[in-house]
Amino acid sequence: MNNQKTTKNSPEKVILEKGKKYFWCTCGLSGKQPFCDGSHKVSTDFKSMHFEVEETKEYYLCNCKKTNNQPYCDGSHNK
Ligand code: FES
Repeated sequence: MNNQKTTKNSPEKVILEKGKKYFWCTCGLSGKQPFCDGSHKVSTDFKSMHFEVEETKEYYLCNCKKTNNQPYCDGSHNK
């Protein structure tokens, strides 16, 4: 299986901290959305997306997996 799965049709509001490493789930199978929990390794060729932020603050991370600005919501869930 290698199909990306939409998990929720709205972004996840999270507080991310400068200096921390985050892994955004690209496959949609993680039970810890929007972050990777390693589930992609079982049945997909997807890899999680590593990212960090420049500033500690609130961010909106994509849950629908259709964004063109990974890992951030760009409103694609409304299209
Ligand atoms: S569980 Fe989806 S990318 Fe890791």
